[in-house]
This record gives sequence, structure tokens and C-alpha cells, in this order.
Amino acid sequence: MPVTAVVGAQYGDEGKGRIVDWLAQRADMVIRYQGGDNAGHTVMNEFGKFALHMVPSGVFNPVATCIVGPGAVVNPDNLLDELAHIEAANVPTTNLFVSERAHVVMPYHPLIDGLEEEARSGRDKIGTTKRGIGPAYADKARRVGIRMGDILRPEYLRARLENVLPDKNKEIVSLGGEPLTIEFLMERAASWREKLGHRIVDTMPLVQHAVQADHSVLLEGQLGVMRDLDWGTYPFVTSSNPLAGYASIGAGMPPTAITHVIGVVKAYSTAVGAGPFPVELLDAAGEKLREIGLEYGATTGRKRRCGWFDGVAIRHAAWLNGFTGIAITKLDVLDTFEEVKICTGYRLGDKVLTHVPDTPVYELVEPIYETWPGWMASTREARQWDDLPKHARLFLRRLSELVGVKIQFVSVGAEREELIVM
Ligand code: GDP
Ligand code: IMO
Ligand code: MG
Repeated sequence: MPVTAVVGAQYGDEGKGRIVDWLAQRADMVIRYQGGDNAGHTVMNEFGKFALHMVPSGVFNPVATCIVGPGAVVNPDNLLDELAHIEAANVPTTNLFVSERAHVVMPYHPLIDGLEEEARSGRDKIGTTKRGIGPAYADKARRVGIRMGDILRPEYLRARLENVLPDKNKEIVSLGGEPLTIEFLMERAASWREKLGHRIVDTMPLVQHAVQADHSVLLEGQLGVMRDLDWGTYPFVTSSNPLAGYASIGAGMPPTAITHVIGVVKAYSTAVGAGPFPVELLDAAGEKLREIGLEYGATTGRKRRCGWFDGVAIRHAAWLNGFTGIAITKLDVLDTFEEVKICTGYRLGDKVLTHVPDTPVYELVEPIYETWPGWMASTREARQWDDLPKHARLFLRRLSELVGVKIQFVSVGAEREELIVM
């Protein structure tokens, strides 16, 4: 049985949630391997419509085990809110476990994230979600992080906080915020222990057993390649690695256990937050993509920047992830465009680039487009390849050719069944 990583191939919001939800109907285990509640993974199914932030999109399969892996960072209060919301829709959540090694997004992290973002001026603003993700991963790397397992050991936690909090408070005060007390944090932790304690476990034996017993396992990534800490548009990136290479670390299995990597690819491009985005359309076509595609952030509600499909960025993603297949989403959003464009290169002065350069150069490039005829017909009812209009099939073939891998899914709507399975 396969171990399949499902990863974002662009800037995030490609539709990972809806693809994982579909695949998870046949999965035994679903693991979120990185990121935190900066994610907004939209799932629409018989239970309703959900924007999942931390809970794996496999939660709607009652027999699948869902795991928040050691590579993720967890805000316990937000996780509890999310669980309450899901449970209110009669979705059982007893099979959800959180790795004791996952780091905690502590109350000081969103505080610092917000204050730091406000202190950044003009061009330096990253446009983070202010969920504390960057500060939590920074503490992990500085070896001053608090881990989920620490919540279960109050004495150990107090000692760690006594060591860490003075520095955090200095930082908060220097940014103009109010310091926090150990007692406040210990009280929060006591409440998390009571409500979440039974879910915090060593997830490694569960994962190891699933892989060794040949169970079907999904690894759910957050965001996409262009926001990867190493391979995205640094510093306008998130503070973890959405790339498939990190999935083994963030889930807890050897890289050779991963048998499939599905890249989730939107039929056009969107990005939330700052940084270079060469294909961005600041005209009526961009506005039309946003309005039809409902391109507003699932976590922050911000307008997503919109543009045509970027074939250069997608080759970058395909190489770095080693996709074995792709899921193309939101094809239906292009149904009423008379023509659709694909970026196949970047112009930099008198040169043509066919790869993604480092950020300061990336800021300067201009996209080179090829234009394809639109299909001017609804694709939403299509359930098989042959149901699609001819020009839609030609466009999809061209995208697949640029990525260099076969299409496994074409999504033509947000609902679970609005999908063509190849
Ligand atoms: P994720 O973060 O990658 O899971 O993606 P988001 O959920 O943030 O954004 C994708 C948005 O597109 C959500 O509002 C989905 O409901 C919606 N969506 C997903 N697939 C399709 C599709 O094929 N067509 C349309 N029209 N909407 C889709
Ligand atoms: P999903 O999982 C889109 C963006 C922010 C910002 C950068 C860093 O739904 O694809 P962070 O809060 O992570 O420090 O912000 O990353 N960003 C997202 N953009 N979808 C998301 O999640 C995002 N999570 C973070 O806008 O540019
Ligand atoms: Mg999203």
C-alpha cells in the first residue's frame, strides 16, 4: 500500500484540503507533517464546509488515524477551538493524536509575530498570518522551544519557562507589548493538559506500525514550494519546509517509505502575503480570477493576489518534490475566459530565464506568456476526461507537459465529488 505525500506546488491554497479529503476516504492514516494553524485547508463534504487549520483533512474518515506530526507547531487553544467546531458537526475526533515532539505555539509567539510584523517597514513586511508560526520555529531552532510533551510534565515545563520567559518578555517589551507571567502560562498549560493530554503521545510507533503493516498513509503538507523556507522566495516565506523531502522528517518515517508524491496544482496562480510574484495580474483579468475563484485567504480573509499559471515556478516545484502525479484544481474558474495564458519563461533585461532565480533577481523579472484559446463552457459537471471541452483538454495537456508528470486528478469544483479521477 502506498505512502503518499500531498504537497502544494505553488504558493499555497492550491486545494490540498479537498484532495486529501478525497484520498482520505480510502486511507488508514493521515499525517500533517509541517506548519501550524497558518494553514486554511478547505473541505466540503457531507458534513458541511470546513476551513481546517491544524487538524489533518483526513478527519472526516472515522476509521483513519489522524496525526499532527513532530514537524508541525501547535497552538493548543486554537486546536481545541477547531476540534469543538468539527465535533459540533458530528464528526468524530477520537482518532486524532498529536506528537509529543511537536512544538507548542506559546501565547508569546503570536504576540511577537504581530509586533514584529508591525515593526517591519514597507518592503520588509512579510505579510505573515500573525499566528506565531515564525517565532515558534525560531525557538525550535534556537533550542528554547516548548514541546507538546512538556505540557504533560508540569515541573519540567516550569523549569523550561523560567529559563525562556525572561528573554521572551524582553523581546515583547522592546517591541512595545505587555510581558507575560509564568503563572499565566502554567495555568494555560494546565487547561491544555486537561483537555488535550490524552491526545499527546509518541506517534512514532503508530506511524512505524502503519508503514510496516503496509497500510495506506497520506502525508499532508501545508502551503507550497514558493513559501518553502529554503526553496521559496526567501525571506517572504514560511518558517518550515512544505517540500515532500521534509514529509519523512515531519511525519517520522524514512524517506524511502514514501512511494508517491502528488503535487496539487491550481490551473492559475495565487499568493497571499508579500514578495515577488511575477505572474501577478493587477488588471480586470486578475480581479475576475479572484471573484470567480473566491480567492480570499481561508485563515486571514485577505485578498489573494492572482495571476496566470506559472510554468517556470511549476518546473521548480516538480524537480524539488519529485512529483509522481499531479492534481490540477479549479479548472472551472477558467470556464468563462476567452483566452488563458501560461508563463513559460521570464525576461530579465535581454536574457530569458527558464528557472526560478534568487529573490532579489526574481523581483526584476517579467513573465513571457503563451496564449491558449478558452473553452467558454462549464466544466463543473465533467466527471471523466472525455466530458471536458476540447480546449480545456489541450490546456491541461500543456500544463502536464510543463510539469513533466501525468495528471491524476482534475478538480472542477469545491465539492468532494466534483472531481475527475484519471
Ligand atoms: P489549501 O490550503 O491548499 O487546502 O486550499 P484552500 O482551501 O486554502 O483554497 C482552495 C479554495 O478553492 C477553497 O475555497 C476550496 O473550497 C476551493 N476549491 C478547491 N478545489 C476547487 C475547484 O476545483 N473548483 C473551485 N471552484 N473551487 C475549488
Ligand atoms: P495553506 O496551508 C497561503 C503565507 C503568508 C506569508 C507567509 C509567511 O492554506 O496553503 P507565516 O504566517 O507562515 O509566517 O506567513 O506565508 N501563508 C500562507 N499563504 N496559504 C497558507 O496556508 C499560508 N500560510 C502562510 O501570507 O506570506
Ligand atoms: Mg489554504
